[in-house]
Amino acid sequence: MQIPFRRLSVTSLALSACASLFAAEPPLADVIQNALATSAQQLEWQLAHLPADSDKPMPRTFEHGKLVTVQTRDWTSGFFPGSLWYLFEATGDAKWRASAEKFTALLAPEQHNQRTHDVGFILYCSYGNGLRLTGNVAYAEVLRNGAASLSTRFRPKVGCIQSWDKRRGWECPVIIDNLMNLELLLWAARDTKDDHFRAIAVSHADTTLKNHFRPDHSSFHVVDYDPATGAVRTRVTHQGTADSSAWARGQAWGLYGYTVMYRETRDPRYLAQAQAIAAFMMNHPRLPADKVPYWDFDTPAIPDAPRDSSAAAVMCSALLELRRYVEPAVASKYSAFAEAQLRSLASPAYLARPGENGGFLLKHATGNHPSKSEIDTPLNYADYYFLEALLRARAAN
Ligand code: GLY
Repeated sequence: MQIPFRRLSVTSLALSACASLFAAEPPLADVIQNALATSAQQLEWQLAHLPADSDKPMPRTFEHGKLVTVQTRDWTSGFFPGSLWYLFEATGDAKWRASAEKFTALLAPEQHNQRTHDVGFILYCSYGNGLRLTGNVAYAEVLRNGAASLSTRFRPKVGCIQSWDKRRGWECPVIIDNLMNLELLLWAARDTKDDHFRAIAVSHADTTLKNHFRPDHSSFHVVDYDPATGAVRTRVTHQGTADSSAWARGQAWGLYGYTVMYRETRDPRYLAQAQAIAAFMMNHPRLPADKVPYWDFDTPAIPDAPRDSSAAAVMCSALLELRRYVEPAVASKYSAFAEAQLRSLASPAYLARPGENGGFLLKHATGNHPSKSEIDTPLNYADYYFLEALLRARAAN
């Protein structure tokens, strides 16, 4: 028997309305509040399980059933103190401030570290947040020294801060991640009124704009320069699947980096670049439905490749800032995308239950796939940017 069309249509509408009623998503405010509460329980657990008096005090990952902690010179050492600062910001509870202060203080020697560009990550996530939340002037001194250390790595002929010292035949390697260290310099320029810091940051961002990007707005991971002439020697990968591939976290670093550059300079070229990177990532045909990227957009193992929740967290946090600088229709798109990403990350598929996952918040990140290191593990920087995204979303909700 044929059912009349009109009757079928009304029945289906009623059924689908019922289904969506039952499947209704919880309000975003509840998702954020629950995720922050779980994060606080989890980091409390982690604090209680860290090795005492170790020369490797900072938790980095949980791999092969073991908590991995690192020295303060490790590039990730600022993220754990940074996460503690974010929990202080989230809760206002003095116990988080005390823990954040304790772990931040351990990083003091890194203010004089001239061996790595990562001094920006290390100090700005820890001391930078500490200064923002407490106004402790001693923190400003550390940050100024850190900016001076970072500046020693600027190579005028190249126009960039050198990321790593010579290695693997590279003379002056600059990685896309290095954009993330510019925020420290821009802060120092404002704080000291010394334009030298700002000039270095702008030069680095401009040179990266010129040499790191492909026509589709994806980026190479490593560009190696001739330090004597500034000429590009090679464009290759270190952590991606191929020189020509789009390593997911690298794309996220670029998005976040140019968003910060626009915030600090209001140069429309940086806004355009951030938006172009956002479009590349958001519209990528191989981005999974839950919006948590595979570790590399071009890995041949897709759809069986590991994800990278750290790339998703960095991207989500960046979009939650970028939406403030664009016209309303575009801002709505960024908001909807970031909200979907945040809901995925805050779901049991990614957010660990307290006591699991070595005390880290997010599961399913990828550190360095080509080196077979930290594949489908937690990572302290995934957690840091996840907390940052939760706070950014909470502030706007
Ligand atoms: N900055 C190193 C990384 O993203 O793995």
